[in-house]
Amino acid sequence: MRNVNKFSIGIFDSGVGGTSIWKEINTLLPLENTIYLSDSKNAPYGDKSKQSIINLAIKNTEYLLKKNCKIIVVACNTATTNAIKILRENYDIPFIGIEPAIKPAALKTKTNIIGILATEGTLNSELFEKTSSSINQKIIRKEIIGKGLVELIEAGKLYSEEMTNLLSYYINPLIKAEVDCLVLGCTHYPYLIPQIRKLVGDRIQIIDSGEAVAKQTKAILEKYLLSNNHKEKKSHQFYINHDKKVLEILLSNNVTKIEILNDDF
Ligand code: DGL
Repeated sequence: MRNVNKFSIGIFDSGVGGTSIWKEINTLLPLENTIYLSDSKNAPYGDKSKQSIINLAIKNTEYLLKKNCKIIVVACNTATTNAIKILRENYDIPFIGIEPAIKPAALKTKTNIIGILATEGTLNSELFEKTSSSINQKIIRKEIIGKGLVELIEAGKLYSEEMTNLLSYYINPLIKAEVDCLVLGCTHYPYLIPQIRKLVGDRIQIIDSGEAVAKQTKAILEKYLLSNNHKEKKSHQFYINHDKKVLEILLSNNVTKIEILNDDF
């Protein structure tokens, strides 16, 4: 009999950013096998139409299902907010999504002004609209489309002058507006925390959803009796349909043994 518990957690993103979520999952769930799909060829998703994002999310899901994943983590705010409903309706497997952490930010803010840095696709989605209407309406939301940030990260230009200039352009108005919490609503952005920290000092709390997604993944695995408790060597495979150099750099500090493979999907 096949032991489904040993099957992998499938994780996908429009590119390399979702590895920020993979790291949280691997830290919390070290006994799980994982397969990560980086659809870098089609990044960014953020300025694509809802239908294109749905089509790409379906393509990624089918790929992970062919690899026998037992659960799928949509490690992309843009894909979650535009496509997770359709995925859940069409596939008989648990999906975990990620959306900007505006609820925790709403509880933490003292100035009642929060900043949200995310893609156009996320900020314009119905799901984001719905979540926004569920928080205290006295809180002012300063929403910024982080246009160009994903492209620079995918190109490995994390510490470039271009990145510093673009971040200053987006963040400085938030500092002026007395934002005291900044929500990172894109899984690529945690890689920018050191650069953002330089701009905001300790005036602003930076909030992302990575740890919450890992906790939710654990809870869903337990709920469906899908957790892997076997102690043998784990497998972590990363598939990318583009140059794998940046992925290798982002994962280079990992103690876990990983395998990065190019594939055309
Ligand atoms: N990591 C994706 C997200 O969380 C990036 C979006 C994009 O490809 O534009 O939204």
